[in-house]
Amino acid sequence: MGISIIQKLKETVAVIQEYYDERPQVGIVLGSGLGNFKSEMEVECEIPYRDIPNFPESTVEGHSGTLIFGKLGGKKVVCMAGRFHFYEGYSPADVAFPVRVMKFLGVEALLLSNAAGGMNTSFHVGDLMIISDHISLFAHNPLLGPNIDELGPRFPDMSEPYSKDLIQKAKAVAESLNIPVHQGVYAGVTGPTFETRAEYKMLHILGADAVGMSTVQENIVARHMGLPVFAISVITDLGIREENNIITHDEVLEAAKAAEPKMTAIFKGLIETI
Ligand code: HPA
Repeated sequence: MGISIIQKLKETVAVIQEYYDERPQVGIVLGSGLGNFKSEMEVECEIPYRDIPNFPESTVEGHSGTLIFGKLGGKKVVCMAGRFHFYEGYSPADVAFPVRVMKFLGVEALLLSNAAGGMNTSFHVGDLMIISDHISLFAHNPLLGPNIDELGPRFPDMSEPYSKDLIQKAKAVAESLNIPVHQGVYAGVTGPTFETRAEYKMLHILGADAVGMSTVQENIVARHMGLPVFAISVITDLGIREENNIITHDEVLEAAKAAEPKMTAIFKGLIETI
């Protein structure tokens, strides 16, 4: 099983390198409604996921499903416009497979973004939250099964899931651009249901400031391989909320789109410092 993942990685990387043979320095994963990011990039190559062996197809509206290579903030980057989620029916290891691919392509840091529900009562729709830590609640661990020793240790340390250095740099970038950012704990859940009122309340009591259906598996796989991770949530809805305030996917996409320029500016500034 371990060998077959390594073989798959090598096969995938070989095909990608037929399209684009330069080494990206930074890997980026874009969350729901954040696919417009590419307009900020100097795009050099785009590969639809369907042309990449071993990549699952992205099935969610708002996730376009393309691997984009190019330049941003003076660095070579590889950007996933569209990610995979556990709720789509993929295994946790499949969800995180592209992150392993990015590491094999040579990236030295991973930047993640997502749309999330905010539980912290000081949050508003459209705010940004730098993720300082996470709680993997209902999300299955992508490292379940035999360990792949070539990738990392059986029992990875998780004392610094999100790089303190990258967080400091991103905060300085945000401050210099006058973009307010929160910092907090992200709870990773499977979805696809949004949380019940009682669940949002519980997650908040457990110490989470925001909740979402992605990021945790990608983070774990990256940390397994020793890759530093930075992640930011766009708060698209408020978990602890008014009576009769119903959350829809459209509302999430709309709020993410509106906040995208702020997030893009922070990523760009951060990449310049890496
Ligand atoms: N809950 C879970 N995932 C989400 C939410 C939420 O409220 N908003 C965006 N993604």
